[in-house]
Amino acid sequence: MIYARIAGTGSFLPGEPVSNDDLVARGIDTSDEWIVERTGIRTRHLAARDVTSSDLACEASRRAIAAAGLQPEDIDLVIVATSTPDCIFPSTATLLQSKLGMRNGAAAFDVQAVCTGFVYGLTIAEKFIRSGSHKRALVVGAEVFSRILDWSDRGTCVLFGDGAGAVVLEASDKPGILATALHADGSHHPILCVPGAVASGQVIGDPFLRMDGQAVFKFAVKVLGEVANEVLAESGMEAGAVDWLIPHQANIRIIQATAKRLGVPMEKVIATVDRHGNTSAASIPLALDLAVRDGRIRAGQRIIVEGVGGGFTWGAALLQF
Ligand code: ACO
Repeated sequence: MIYARIAGTGSFLPGEPVSNDDLVARGIDTSDEWIVERTGIRTRHLAARDVTSSDLACEASRRAIAAAGLQPEDIDLVIVATSTPDCIFPSTATLLQSKLGMRNGAAAFDVQAVCTGFVYGLTIAEKFIRSGSHKRALVVGAEVFSRILDWSDRGTCVLFGDGAGAVVLEASDKPGILATALHADGSHHPILCVPGAVASGQVIGDPFLRMDGQAVFKFAVKVLGEVANEVLAESGMEAGAVDWLIPHQANIRIIQATAKRLGVPMEKVIATVDRHGNTSAASIPLALDLAVRDGRIRAGQRIIVEGVGGGFTWGAALLQF
C-alpha cells in the first residue's frame, strides 16, 4: 500500500506585522477593538509592491524542502494553490519551479479553489502519489490578497493578509493522509467573489474582493462542521481521536463555532488568524507549519485540515503526521 505522508513543512510572511492601529493610522475608518471583537485578527503581513505570490511561495518551499531533508530536484510534482497568481500565465507553479532552480522536468500547475485551494492541492497530490506515478510533491498555498482588496471598503480590507505555506508530500509505506473530501457548489458564487476580468488590455468590471460577510459566516460554519465529520466517518474515527484541528484561518469566531459543532475543545485547535489574518490558500499550511515548528504538532499525531472559500468550495483531509 502506498500512502502519502507529509515529510516537511515551511511558511513565509512578508515584512513586518501591520497592526490594526497601523491600519487606522493609514486612514482606514476602523478600530482595533472592532476588528479584534468581530474577527480575532490583531496583525497581518502585506507584501511590498514588487513581491509576488511565487516569491512568497519560493521562501516557504525552500523551508519545507529543507525540513524534509531534500533538494528541490528531488520533487517531481509542484502544485500551487493561489487566487492571486503572478500573471495570467504561465502558472505560479512553473514560476516557482524556476525560482527554486528545478530543471528536472517535474509537473507543475496551479489550483484555483480560493481559500480551499491548499486542501484541493493536497488531495490532488495525494492521488498522484497513491497511484504510484509520482514520489514527492511540493504543495503550496501562496497569496498576495492585498492586491485584490478595495482599501476603501473597511468591511473587507481589514480581514486579509499576504503569505505562503508549503508542505512536501512523500510516498511512504506508513500512513499518511487517511481520508479526504472535496466539495463545491457554484450557486453561492455571488456571496464572495472578485467579479472582474481582463480583456483587450483592460480590466472589465470590478477587480476587488466583494463579500456578504454574514452569508459567508453562516455557510462556512455549516460546511466546515459537515466536511470534518465526513473525513472522520470515512476513516472510522470519532472527533476525540484527533489531536489537532486546523481550520481555514478566516475569523476566530468561525473557528470557535466549527470546533464547538465538532465537540473539539479549543486547546486542540490551531488558530493563527490573530497573527496573519485571512491569507486564503496560504492560511492552513501557515498554521500547520507554525504549530510544527513550535513543537505542538508531533510525529504520529492525527490532524484534520479543512478549508472553505469562494466558489463556494470546501474540503478536508484527515492525516497522520
Ligand atoms: N471597522 C469598524 N466598523 C465596521 C468595519 C470595520 N472594519 N466593517 C464594518 N463595520 C461596521 C458596518 O459599517 C456596520 O455599521 P452600521 O451598523 O453602522 O451599519 C457594522 O460594523 C456591522 O457590520 P456588519 O457587516 O453587519 O458586521 P458583522 O457583525 O457581520 O461582521 C464580518 C462583519 C467580520 C465581516 C463578519 O460578517 C464575518 O466575519 N464574516 C465572515 C467573513 C469572512 O471571514 N470572510 C473571509 C473570506 S471567506 C473565507 O475565507 C471562507
